[in-house]
Amino acid sequence: MQNRIEIKDLMSASAASLFACLADGRVHSGAQLADALGISRQAIWKQIETLRETGLEIHARPGRGYQLARPVEQLDKNLVNSLVKSPAVRATVVGAVNSTNQSLLDARASHGQALLAETQLAGRGRRGRSWISPPGSGLYVSLAWDFDCGLTRLAPLSLVVGLTAAKCLRQLSEAPVTVKWPNDLFIQQAKLGGCLVEVSGAAEGPCRAVVGIGINLFPNRAMSSVSQAWTTLEDHGSGPGRNRLAAALLDGLASALEQFEADGFAPFYAKWDPYDALAGLPIRVVSGQKVMIRGTAAGIDRHGQLLVRCDGRIKTVAGGEVSIRVS
Ligand code: BTN
Repeated sequence: MQNRIEIKDLMSASAASLFACLADGRVHSGAQLADALGISRQAIWKQIETLRETGLEIHARPGRGYQLARPVEQLDKNLVNSLVKSPAVRATVVGAVNSTNQSLLDARASHGQALLAETQLAGRGRRGRSWISPPGSGLYVSLAWDFDCGLTRLAPLSLVVGLTAAKCLRQLSEAPVTVKWPNDLFIQQAKLGGCLVEVSGAAEGPCRAVVGIGINLFPNRAMSSVSQAWTTLEDHGSGPGRNRLAAALLDGLASALEQFEADGFAPFYAKWDPYDALAGLPIRVVSGQKVMIRGTAAGIDRHGQLLVRCDGRIKTVAGGEVSIRVS
């Protein structure tokens, strides 16, 4: 169904409403919650367990009720839309969805349609990996964008998205966010977030992108299953509220994508170096289990390809199915 977003709320409606009730961080009695949600106290207890399974820390206060270990600023569609300056962007907020990227793709969302979710039940990462998305602990946002320039010119788009997200995060927090080529968001060798850019359309004509960004804001137990070093924005000082951050990212993306279509990659290439997480580091370029190149990261070229110094020569690496490991 073109231009309409049909969201199936997969975390049960009760669990999502319960999360909303608890978000203020105060103690809520079982009776009060049961009343507010119109379900039994037994059902409240079950939904509390469902929320705990997502990694949320919820204290049971004997004789008093339940309390979220930390208050959460809930995503608010009206607030996000009032903070966004770009006339092209319209944001929708949902409690739970499989993947914000997938929802926009399935809905063939129109230009400028953005989707934010409190939690993703099947969040997707690059190269077929999953993206753990516990409620209230991160930001999960996607934006649909149309281009007329053709897929061929979109090759460096994922770098544009990573660079724009890192720039926004630096402007709104004290965190020294960098980009690990092509678009992982890093702070001091630990992953803060990532970007998933999915494109379709004509090689030389109209095409469309769904751009998704996931950022770890607060620690959550569920993250302990992540194999690589990770960090959260909170670990690096107090960040902005989630709604303000979402609006800034959407605005930043809208103007970057407009500039990219008009001027190509050149203005972004010029800004890359201070954000380069890999510069000068010994790296391995890996495809599947196979090490393709070993060398020293030496920045990017004008097309957004990674440069690797190897036996005194420079090799270029295009985006796609490779991953970069720091040796
Ligand atoms: C990666 O580093 O592997 C990319 C992670 C991208 C995660 C975001 S969260 C919002 C959007 N929806 C998804 O399913 N994935 C992206």
